[in-house]
Amino acid sequence: TDLIATAKAHTNIALVKYWGKRDETLILPWTDSLSLTLNEFYTTTKVTFSETLEHDNFYIDRILVDQKNNQKLTNFMNVAREKIGLTYFANVESFNCVPISAGLASSSSAFAALAGAIYEASGVDYTLNDVSKLARRGSGSATRSVFGGLAEWKKGSTDDDSYAQPIQETVDFGIEMIAILLDTTKKKVSSRLGMQTTVDTSPFFNEWVKVVEKDMQIMHQAIEKKDINLIGEIAESNAMRMHSLTLSASPSFTYFNADSLLAMQEVEKLRTNGVKCFYTMDAGPNVKVIYDRKNRETILQELSKVFGRDRLVVSQPGPGIEFIK
Ligand code: DP6
Repeated sequence: TDLIATAKAHTNIALVKYWGKRDETLILPWTDSLSLTLNEFYTTTKVTFSETLEHDNFYIDRILVDQKNNQKLTNFMNVAREKIGLTYFANVESFNCVPISAGLASSSSAFAALAGAIYEASGVDYTLNDVSKLARRGSGSATRSVFGGLAEWKKGSTDDDSYAQPIQETVDFGIEMIAILLDTTKKKVSSRLGMQTTVDTSPFFNEWVKVVEKDMQIMHQAIEKKDINLIGEIAESNAMRMHSLTLSASPSFTYFNADSLLAMQEVEKLRTNGVKCFYTMDAGPNVKVIYDRKNRETILQELSKVFGRDRLVVSQPGPGIEFIK
């Protein structure tokens, strides 16, 4: 008989970034990282393991991924089969839910949902740490999307001790994010390649490892104190230091575009006018604004004037992985 399960996982945005792998096959990072899981963006994935299938099939938003583009997914399924001790192939149907069809459906929610559905379908005993470890093998940031709210990925040193754990699954203070959708096309340099280039060629990479260690400490204190402004300050400076690695790599590259710079300036302008808010960016030009929800309307009003209200997506902290019956 077929083994079936469906899982739902939300995207997360790192407040202290993961940037650089120590082991590219196992996806072991050079540093710890810490993130906020978001309510607005998620992936729902159904896995059906069947004795009758002769290979895996992947459907993303109802479209079959062709043979030539599914190598990464096939490799992931092979890793999963080994872990759960199953030989069946699977049908994988994945749905990305974003408010407007826009570039924020990230690999973090996708691999977390897939890993969860695989374990749930398999019938083996498992923990969320197992799910987190398997998700990691698909995409580093997916490690953290297994948990809701604020979560931390401890770098570990082997396949077995590198996984995320929750810090505050239900966030009890008013932190919120606005994603400014500036460019929703596919990223030009994948995080995989971007990281590899930076680790190999940026003369500042060793400094980055030290920066993250310090930022993790302060971030934990800031969360403890529910100090949103300190959280935002550290997140912003951490993100800018990550992005400075790309400029110092050879070949040099950047994820910023002209609108990203404009967005960051607007946030700085708001700050000059006494409205506390901060920015962060990932491996693409979209800017995310971090703030206390009591400032939401003021920030929305100002950013709408420049970017238009329909490019702004407000998101609260979101939940961890859920299984759908
Ligand atoms: C900038 O998790 O997408 O968003 O492990 O190669 O799949 P791979 O990379 P990925 O990289 C995320 C990079 C980041 C920072 C972060 O989420 O921590």
